[in-house]
Amino acid sequence: MKWESFDNYEALSARAAELFLGAIHDDPRIVFGLPTGRTPIGMYDRVVAICSRQYHCFTEVTTFNLDEYAGISCDHPGSYCTYMREHLFDHVDVDRKRAHIPDGKAEDLAAECARYERAIRNAGGLGLTFLGLGRNGHIGFNEPGTPFDSRTRVVSLTASTRTANASCFADGEVPREAITMGIGTILESRSIVLLVSGSGKEDAVVRLRGREINEAFPASALHLHGDVQVLVS
Ligand code: GLP
Repeated sequence: MKWESFDNYEALSARAAELFLGAIHDDPRIVFGLPTGRTPIGMYDRVVAICSRQYHCFTEVTTFNLDEYAGISCDHPGSYCTYMREHLFDHVDVDRKRAHIPDGKAEDLAAECARYERAIRNAGGLGLTFLGLGRNGHIGFNEPGTPFDSRTRVVSLTASTRTANASCFADGEVPREAITMGIGTILESRSIVLLVSGSGKEDAVVRLRGREINEAFPASALHLHGDVQVLVS
Protein backbone atom coordinates (compact mmCIF):
# COMPACT_ATOMS: atom_id res chain seq x y z
CA MET A 1 0.00 0.00 0.00
CA LYS A 2 1.55 3.32 -1.09
CA TRP A 3 0.56 6.46 0.81
CA GLU A 4 0.61 10.04 -0.44
CA SER A 5 -0.38 12.87 1.91
CA PHE A 6 -1.61 16.27 0.81
CA ASP A 7 -1.91 19.58 2.63
CA ASN A 8 -5.43 20.15 1.44
CA TYR A 9 -8.38 18.76 -0.50
CA GLU A 10 -7.46 20.71 -3.67
CA ALA A 11 -4.03 19.08 -3.88
CA LEU A 12 -5.52 15.63 -3.26
CA SER A 13 -8.13 16.19 -5.97
CA ALA A 14 -5.51 17.38 -8.47
CA ARG A 15 -3.42 14.24 -7.88
CA ALA A 16 -6.49 11.99 -8.17
CA ALA A 17 -7.47 13.66 -11.46
CA GLU A 18 -3.91 13.20 -12.72
CA LEU A 19 -4.12 9.46 -11.97
CA PHE A 20 -7.59 9.27 -13.58
CA LEU A 21 -6.53 11.02 -16.80
CA GLY A 22 -3.18 9.20 -16.86
CA ALA A 23 -5.04 5.89 -16.84
CA ILE A 24 -7.12 6.95 -19.88
CA HIS A 25 -3.98 8.17 -21.60
CA ASP A 26 -2.24 4.82 -21.02
CA ASP A 27 -5.30 2.80 -22.05
CA PRO A 28 -8.16 4.63 -23.80
CA ARG A 29 -10.30 1.49 -23.29
CA ILE A 30 -9.78 1.49 -19.51
CA VAL A 31 -12.53 0.08 -17.28
CA PHE A 32 -12.98 2.25 -14.19
CA GLY A 33 -14.64 1.44 -10.90
CA LEU A 34 -16.09 4.75 -9.68
CA PRO A 35 -17.09 6.09 -6.27
CA THR A 36 -19.58 8.68 -5.14
CA GLY A 37 -19.76 10.75 -1.94
CA ARG A 38 -18.24 14.15 -1.22
CA THR A 39 -14.59 13.11 -1.55
CA PRO A 40 -14.32 12.45 -5.33
CA ILE A 41 -16.17 15.63 -6.37
CA GLY A 42 -12.93 17.63 -6.69
CA MET A 43 -11.42 14.89 -8.86
CA TYR A 44 -14.47 14.77 -11.13
CA ASP A 45 -14.50 18.59 -11.42
CA ARG A 46 -10.91 18.56 -12.66
CA VAL A 47 -11.48 15.65 -15.03
CA VAL A 48 -14.49 17.47 -16.49
CA ALA A 49 -12.55 20.74 -16.84
CA ILE A 50 -9.91 19.00 -18.92
CA CYS A 51 -12.15 16.60 -20.83
CA SER A 52 -14.58 19.27 -21.93
CA ARG A 53 -11.63 20.98 -23.61
CA GLN A 54 -10.38 17.75 -25.23
CA TYR A 55 -13.73 16.24 -26.13
CA HIS A 56 -12.62 12.69 -26.70
CA CYS A 57 -11.34 11.58 -23.29
CA PHE A 58 -14.11 9.08 -22.63
CA THR A 59 -14.93 7.80 -26.12
CA GLU A 60 -13.91 4.21 -25.38
CA VAL A 61 -13.90 4.29 -21.58
CA THR A 62 -16.14 1.94 -19.58
CA THR A 63 -17.25 2.74 -16.04
CA PHE A 64 -18.89 0.76 -13.25
CA ASN A 65 -20.12 2.58 -10.19
CA LEU A 66 -19.47 0.91 -6.88
CA ASP A 67 -22.96 1.19 -5.51
CA GLU A 68 -26.50 2.58 -5.69
CA TYR A 69 -29.37 2.94 -3.25
CA ALA A 70 -32.13 0.35 -3.54
CA GLY A 71 -35.74 1.35 -4.08
CA ILE A 72 -35.13 4.68 -5.81
CA SER A 73 -34.96 5.29 -9.52
CA CYS A 74 -32.12 6.77 -11.55
CA ASP A 75 -33.82 10.17 -11.74
CA HIS A 76 -34.34 10.49 -7.96
CA PRO A 77 -32.32 13.55 -6.81
CA GLY A 78 -30.52 11.50 -4.13
CA SER A 79 -29.53 8.60 -6.38
CA TYR A 80 -25.93 7.95 -7.32
CA CYS A 81 -27.15 7.85 -10.90
CA THR A 82 -28.13 11.54 -10.56
CA TYR A 83 -24.83 12.26 -8.80
CA MET A 84 -22.83 10.74 -11.67
CA ARG A 85 -24.78 12.66 -14.31
CA GLU A 86 -24.27 15.92 -12.44
CA HIS A 87 -20.60 15.47 -11.62
CA LEU A 88 -19.32 13.57 -14.65
CA PHE A 89 -21.46 11.90 -17.29
CA ASP A 90 -23.39 14.98 -18.50
CA HIS A 91 -20.14 16.82 -19.16
CA VAL A 92 -17.98 14.28 -20.99
CA ASP A 93 -18.31 12.17 -24.10
CA VAL A 94 -18.85 8.89 -22.27
CA ASP A 95 -20.98 6.35 -24.14
CA ARG A 96 -23.96 5.93 -21.80
CA LYS A 97 -24.14 2.26 -22.72
CA ARG A 98 -20.71 1.84 -21.18
CA ALA A 99 -21.46 3.86 -18.02
CA HIS A 100 -22.87 1.28 -15.64
CA ILE A 101 -24.66 1.86 -12.34
CA PRO A 102 -26.64 -0.82 -10.53
CA ASP A 103 -30.39 -0.35 -11.05
CA GLY A 104 -31.74 0.23 -7.55
CA LYS A 105 -35.27 0.05 -8.90
CA ALA A 106 -34.88 -3.35 -10.59
CA GLU A 107 -37.80 -5.67 -9.87
CA ASP A 108 -35.48 -8.52 -8.93
CA LEU A 109 -32.57 -6.97 -7.05
CA ALA A 110 -30.67 -10.26 -6.69
CA ALA A 111 -30.85 -10.80 -10.44
CA GLU A 112 -29.65 -7.22 -10.95
CA CYS A 113 -26.60 -7.92 -8.76
CA ALA A 114 -25.76 -11.06 -10.75
CA ARG A 115 -26.21 -9.12 -14.00
CA TYR A 116 -23.84 -6.41 -12.74
CA GLU A 117 -21.14 -8.97 -11.90
CA ARG A 118 -21.52 -10.47 -15.38
CA ALA A 119 -21.28 -7.04 -17.01
CA ILE A 120 -18.01 -6.34 -15.18
CA ARG A 121 -16.62 -9.69 -16.32
CA ASN A 122 -17.79 -9.17 -19.90
CA ALA A 123 -16.04 -5.80 -19.95
CA GLY A 124 -12.78 -7.58 -19.11
CA GLY A 125 -12.81 -6.81 -15.36
CA LEU A 126 -12.09 -3.57 -13.52
CA GLY A 127 -8.82 -1.90 -14.51
CA LEU A 128 -8.59 1.01 -12.05
CA THR A 129 -11.02 1.50 -9.19
CA PHE A 130 -11.26 4.69 -7.16
CA LEU A 131 -12.71 4.32 -3.69
CA GLY A 132 -13.80 6.65 -0.94
CA LEU A 133 -13.67 5.71 2.73
CA GLY A 134 -16.58 5.71 5.13
CA ARG A 135 -15.96 6.88 8.70
CA ASN A 136 -16.43 3.31 9.90
CA GLY A 137 -14.01 2.00 7.27
CA HIS A 138 -16.63 1.00 4.72
CA ILE A 139 -15.72 0.85 1.05
CA GLY A 140 -18.57 1.03 -1.44
CA PHE A 141 -21.42 0.12 0.89
CA ASN A 142 -19.54 -2.79 2.44
CA GLU A 143 -20.13 -2.17 6.10
CA PRO A 144 -18.08 -3.67 8.97
CA GLY A 145 -18.44 -7.45 9.10
CA THR A 146 -18.58 -7.88 5.31
CA PRO A 147 -16.72 -11.02 4.15
CA PHE A 148 -13.68 -10.18 2.07
CA ASP A 149 -14.85 -12.58 -0.65
CA SER A 150 -18.27 -10.90 -0.99
CA ARG A 151 -19.69 -10.13 -4.44
CA THR A 152 -22.21 -7.57 -5.70
CA ARG A 153 -25.33 -7.87 -3.55
CA VAL A 154 -28.09 -6.09 -1.65
CA VAL A 155 -27.05 -4.75 1.76
CA SER A 156 -28.71 -2.99 4.69
CA LEU A 157 -27.17 0.37 5.52
CA THR A 158 -26.06 1.10 9.06
CA ALA A 159 -27.67 3.95 10.98
CA SER A 160 -24.37 5.89 10.94
CA THR A 161 -24.02 5.61 7.15
CA ARG A 162 -27.62 6.71 6.66
CA THR A 163 -27.02 9.73 8.91
CA ALA A 164 -23.77 10.61 7.12
CA ASN A 165 -25.59 10.59 3.77
CA ALA A 166 -28.84 12.26 4.90
CA SER A 167 -27.95 15.63 3.35
CA CYS A 168 -28.46 14.14 -0.14
CA PHE A 169 -32.12 13.47 0.62
CA ALA A 170 -34.32 16.54 0.94
CA ASP A 171 -36.75 14.75 3.26
CA GLY A 172 -33.91 13.12 5.24
CA GLU A 173 -35.40 9.75 4.26
CA VAL A 174 -32.30 7.83 3.26
CA PRO A 175 -33.06 4.41 1.75
CA ARG A 176 -32.42 1.48 4.10
CA GLU A 177 -30.83 -0.77 1.50
CA ALA A 178 -28.38 -0.50 -1.34
CA ILE A 179 -26.69 -2.55 -4.02
CA THR A 180 -22.92 -2.60 -3.68
CA MET A 181 -20.03 -4.30 -5.38
CA GLY A 182 -18.57 -6.77 -2.91
CA ILE A 183 -15.12 -6.55 -1.40
CA GLY A 184 -14.12 -9.60 -3.48
CA THR A 185 -15.33 -7.77 -6.61
CA ILE A 186 -13.33 -4.65 -5.71
CA LEU A 187 -10.16 -6.63 -4.90
CA GLU A 188 -10.18 -8.07 -8.44
CA SER A 189 -9.59 -4.58 -9.86
CA ARG A 190 -6.07 -4.48 -11.28
CA SER A 191 -5.26 -1.21 -9.47
CA ILE A 192 -7.01 0.68 -6.68
CA VAL A 193 -6.79 4.30 -5.53
CA LEU A 194 -8.37 5.12 -2.17
CA LEU A 195 -9.26 8.79 -1.62
CA VAL A 196 -9.50 9.88 2.00
CA SER A 197 -10.63 13.36 2.95
CA GLY A 198 -13.21 14.89 5.22
CA SER A 199 -13.78 15.18 8.92
CA GLY A 200 -14.26 12.22 11.20
CA LYS A 201 -11.97 9.90 9.25
CA GLU A 202 -8.89 10.25 11.48
CA ASP A 203 -9.55 7.00 13.34
CA ALA A 204 -10.12 5.10 10.11
CA VAL A 205 -6.80 6.43 8.74
CA VAL A 206 -4.88 5.40 11.88
CA ARG A 207 -6.45 1.97 11.67
CA LEU A 208 -5.61 1.60 7.99
CA ARG A 209 -1.99 2.63 8.59
CA GLY A 210 -1.75 -0.23 11.09
CA ARG A 211 -1.26 -3.82 10.05
CA GLU A 212 -4.64 -5.13 11.18
CA ILE A 213 -6.51 -7.16 8.56
CA ASN A 214 -9.99 -7.76 9.88
CA GLU A 215 -13.50 -7.97 8.43
CA ALA A 216 -14.61 -5.63 11.22
CA PHE A 217 -12.71 -2.94 9.29
CA PRO A 218 -13.61 -3.35 5.59
CA ALA A 219 -10.87 -1.10 4.16
CA SER A 220 -8.23 -3.36 5.72
CA ALA A 221 -8.98 -5.83 2.90
CA LEU A 222 -6.95 -3.49 0.71
CA HIS A 223 -3.80 -4.79 2.44
CA LEU A 224 -4.44 -8.03 0.55
CA HIS A 225 -4.09 -6.27 -2.82
CA GLY A 226 -0.72 -5.65 -4.49
CA ASP A 227 -1.44 -2.29 -6.15
CA VAL A 228 -3.19 0.19 -3.87
CA GLN A 229 -2.44 3.89 -3.60
CA VAL A 230 -3.95 5.87 -0.75
CA LEU A 231 -4.30 9.63 -1.18
CA VAL A 232 -5.05 11.38 2.08
CA SER A 233 -5.56 15.05 3.01
C1 GLP B 1 -20.88 6.61 0.94
C2 GLP B 1 -20.54 5.80 -0.34
C3 GLP B 1 -19.11 5.38 -0.34
C4 GLP B 1 -18.28 6.61 -0.02
C5 GLP B 1 -18.46 6.99 1.42
C6 GLP B 1 -17.67 8.22 1.86
O1 GLP B 1 -21.61 5.90 1.86
N1 GLP B 1 -21.36 4.66 -0.58
O2 GLP B 1 -18.78 4.82 -1.61
O3 GLP B 1 -16.92 6.34 -0.24
O4 GLP B 1 -19.83 7.15 1.70
O5 GLP B 1 -18.33 9.38 1.51
P1 GLP B 1 -17.72 10.83 1.63
O6 GLP B 1 -16.70 10.94 0.56
O7 GLP B 1 -18.89 11.72 1.41
O8 GLP B 1 -17.13 10.95 2.99
